Amino acid sequence: MKQSIKNKRETFSGRKAFIFAAIGSAVGLGNIWRFPYITYENGGGAFIFPYLIALLTAGIPLLFLDYAIGHKYRAAPPLAFRKLSKGFETFGWWQVMINIIIAIYYAVILGWAASYTYFSFNSAWGADPASFFFKDFLQMAEGASVGFDFVGNIVGPLIGVWAFILVILALGVQKGIGKSATFFMPLLTIMFIILVISALFLPGAAKGLDALFTPDWSKLLEPTVWVAAYGQIFFSLSICFGIMITYSSYLKKDSDLTGSGLVVGFANSSFELLAGIGVFAALGFMATAGGKEVSEVATSGIGLAFIAFPAIIDQAPFGALVGILFFGSLLFAGITSLMSILEVIIASIQDKLRIRRQVATALTCIPMAIISILLFGTTTGLPVLDVLDKFVNSFGIVAVGLFVIYAILLSESLSKLADHVNETSSVKLGMVWRVLVGAVTPIVLVYMLFTEVHKVVTEGYGGYPTWFVNTFGWGMAIGILVIAFLLSRLPWKYLDSANKGEK
Ligand code: ALA
Repeated sequence: MKQSIKNKRETFSGRKAFIFAAIGSAVGLGNIWRFPYITYENGGGAFIFPYLIALLTAGIPLLFLDYAIGHKYRAAPPLAFRKLSKGFETFGWWQVMINIIIAIYYAVILGWAASYTYFSFNSAWGADPASFFFKDFLQMAEGASVGFDFVGNIVGPLIGVWAFILVILALGVQKGIGKSATFFMPLLTIMFIILVISALFLPGAAKGLDALFTPDWSKLLEPTVWVAAYGQIFFSLSICFGIMITYSSYLKKDSDLTGSGLVVGFANSSFELLAGIGVFAALGFMATAGGKEVSEVATSGIGLAFIAFPAIIDQAPFGALVGILFFGSLLFAGITSLMSILEVIIASIQDKLRIRRQVATALTCIPMAIISILLFGTTTGLPVLDVLDKFVNSFGIVAVGLFVIYAILLSESLSKLADHVNETSSVKLGMVWRVLVGAVTPIVLVYMLFTEVHKVVTEGYGGYPTWFVNTFGWGMAIGILVIAFLLSRLPWKYLDSANKGEK
């Protein structure tokens, strides 16, 4: 029995299932609620320039790198990096830990989106969506603290999200992830296109689009704008998380890696652009209806989804439909991303312990569901979520990306990885790719890390008390690295010496 579990690696049924799953992973909250505002804030139409440069110089090249590692070593990050060199297993577990942190709060936001899809039928938030969200829905406590007053509104849907995702993931790579992504992605695209077209017909939509696209070229001289462009690309494309390493480990041996990567990269960016148009058309309507400027209503993240959009839904013709399409899109886009985030953890546990997929799925999802309920199902969850999100993205993903590139440069030459990709791929990787991955990206990552650390050390974050930022911010960022190191020390039972990295 152990033997059969040991030798069998699941695969996607073909290119279509993989591409849908990879686009499903990429298209998520980052596209819908992050990209529009980041663009607006960082030069509007002019931001397209740094954004495209970031996509072409780091996004697509790193996507190819992730594909190359996953496909060549046919393993989730810890084992894949161990195969590069024994000491690098820690980097794989570091990525696993980053995914654990992201998943526990990502699921909460999906629970909120599910509730708000339902609330859209009768605008349950009433005349004051902000007060409804914070006071009635989240029942938020004053200030930043940690407590265990549970809120039924949050816990109920959150359990639903975890139960749903557990069932899908337990079904396996093709039957669960592949099939559900092939169902959700076309549905999401249709829903989102209807939403964007409806938004474009709202009075004042043109004002919103003007605000979004009017270029402010002077912004291109500000380094922070470039950091924002690269940051957006990393989060949005799901690179440096270990996700694409895991997904590509399920590809068949003769897969066209670069061809698929280009489809995924450009589909993700097209979706972002569409989201920008839809969101700002709706914000233009909101500004016009309230006799305000777009700058007074433009926002991102939680403020956009759970405060601005309910106000838009209240005033728009067919508001309930707009609401169901918007929150439903957020939910479906998020579900396929959350699946990919959790798959990294499941696959890593399966690689290490050689246990059945269903057992690994339960071992992953059940404790994480409990942690996410304990941390975020309470009146004190929102500030914790905010700090975890900031630190895991600004420091976790950027730092691990840097170490992963370093690991590859030290252990396996980029040329060898390129040779592997070129054997089966349509677009060949050469010198340009090696320079982008080996030189340009590390410089960008170091710069990003330095500027973010400097900013948070000098200014703090979000006005939260120091103990709070030290616990959930720095404490978490350092803590996950320590845990990753300890996990890498656990023995591998069923690996031969070559796979153990003991070459
Ligand atoms: N790539 C995913 C998103 O954009 C994580 O939300």
